[in-house]
Amino acid sequence: MHRSRGEKDETDKHVGLLKLVQVLSFLVVFVAGVVIGLVTSSHINQHFVSKAEIYSFVNHFSADVPAGKDGNCTVVRDCGKAEDCWSVKTFLRPKNLTHRMSDNELFWRASMVPKKEEFPYERVPKVAFMFLTRGPLPLLPLWERFFRGHEKLFSIYVHALPGYKLNVSSTSPFYRREIPSQQVSWGTVTLADAERRLLANALLDFSNERFVLLSESCIPVYNFSTVYNYLIGSAHGFVQSYDEPTRYGRGRYSRRMLPDIKLYQWRKGSQWFELNRALAVNVISDTKYYTLFKKYCLPACYPDEHYLPTYLNMFHGSLNSNRTVTWVDWSIGGPHPATYGEANVSVDFIQSIRNNGTLCQYNSETTSICFLFARKFAPSALEPLLKLSSSVMEF
Ligand SMILES: *[C@@H]1O[C@H](CO)[C@@H](O)[C@H](O)[C@H]1NC(C)=O
Ligand SMILES: *[C@@H]1O[C@H](CO)[C@@H](O)[C@H](O)[C@H]1NC(C)=O
Ligand SMILES: *[C@@H]1O[C@H](CO)[C@@H](O)[C@H](O)[C@H]1NC(C)=O
Ligand SMILES: *[C@@H]1O[C@H](CO)[C@@H](O)[C@H](O)[C@H]1NC(C)=O
Ligand SMILES: *[C@@H]1O[C@H](CO)[C@@H](O)[C@H](O)[C@H]1NC(C)=O
Ligand SMILES: *[C@@H]1O[C@H](CO)[C@@H](O)[C@H](O)[C@H]1NC(C)=O
Ligand SMILES: *[C@@H]1O[C@H](CO)[C@@H](O)[C@H](O)[C@H]1NC(C)=O
Repeated sequence: MHRSRGEKDETDKHVGLLKLVQVLSFLVVFVAGVVIGLVTSSHINQHFVSKAEIYSFVNHFSADVPAGKDGNCTVVRDCGKAEDCWSVKTFLRPKNLTHRMSDNELFWRASMVPKKEEFPYERVPKVAFMFLTRGPLPLLPLWERFFRGHEKLFSIYVHALPGYKLNVSSTSPFYRREIPSQQVSWGTVTLADAERRLLANALLDFSNERFVLLSESCIPVYNFSTVYNYLIGSAHGFVQSYDEPTRYGRGRYSRRMLPDIKLYQWRKGSQWFELNRALAVNVISDTKYYTLFKKYCLPACYPDEHYLPTYLNMFHGSLNSNRTVTWVDWSIGGPHPATYGEANVSVDFIQSIRNNGTLCQYNSETTSICFLFARKFAPSALEPLLKLSSSVMEF
């Protein structure tokens, strides 16, 4: 009984096992079929996609460029030679200042501030020297001497007339530093536009920390290390901003700026500013107040003398020293400051700009250094300035 029952059980088991094997083999064949099908089709897809990519790559960019085999994003024309456009290096510092961005696009891009505080590289802060000029820079040899040996600590930007190229050798720090510019009419808002355009272009380099506006008639009166340490170490920007209760100050205010700008907030100051990065980002990001100046600050109101001093006074007063670091002589009276030529340059004169006994506020201390730059100097001043630069200005 036991056995036969056992035998029956055995046969039942055999039949069951056979069925199981059948089902399993069906399953195996089915799954294998599916897998093979999937693999084949994806292979074919991949094959076609990669062919298509190479084809469009070759189509878009000239054939002398090696085709990116793994689909790397490769910018060919804009960077000069084939370059990985995802590299952080390219993002941090555009090598080629020429671009086709409109002012709107440029200002938007320049207004971006990283949320993460640590940089993925060792950041050495730089000073951006921004030259606003119609054409040539007659005092260029003096500036080249000033910059020599400090290449890692500064960037140069030049806003000249559209299409104007500085005639400098490829070893000059001014070589290819012209930014895409537009026409400027002195006294109109296009002058303030050009200043903001310089700022925005300079902001694209994430190492730039301080931003100085200079003209073709400006000279440095201290050596580079003194200028660099003074600016980098300052807790404040240097934008002259004062209340002038005459027709040359308050007289230029327009009541049409109400209710956004009130008379008591109105300020005047020199066009030649110095800003830190945070202030510079705020300045190029402002549309509201700049638009009011564009509309209502018309001659005899000059946006370049009132926009920055007023805007900073309204919103960022505590970050401003309210004084300028660019010396100028208004003592002769009239609409233009004195211009100094060959006959006027002397050791005593330059020495008196560097230090005339007046003390200035610097952070929470006082210093005898009030001015780092001076204007206005005629082209004829170049030779005597070069002669005394090493003995008086220490460069
Ligand atoms: C793609 O980019 C990586 C990382 O930048 C680089 O190592 C690789 O050589 C690039 N490949 C091609 C084909 O350019
Ligand atoms: C810089 O870019 C412009 C256009 O984007 C191009 O015409 C020019 O050749 C480039 N210059 C260099 C040195 O790559
Ligand atoms: C550029 O400068 C060089 C040397 O200073 C001079 O020989 C040349 O004539 C200048 N070119 C132009 C177009 O001014
Ligand atoms: C500059 O003026 C602002 C008012 O706009 C003031 O708050 C600030 O303390 C002044 N800065 C210095 C360094 O005196
Ligand atoms: C520069 O020197 C000339 C000649 O001595 C003189 O006439 C002129 O007033 C001086 N200019 C200034 C701004 O001192
Ligand atoms: C020194 O220069 C400042 C700024 O130019 C001026 O206000 C001051 O009167 C000068 N002081 C002397 C003693 O000349
Ligand atoms: C730069 O000028 C400062 C004072 O203004 C001086 O102490 C320093 O030695 C000068 N540096 C060089 C390299 O001449």
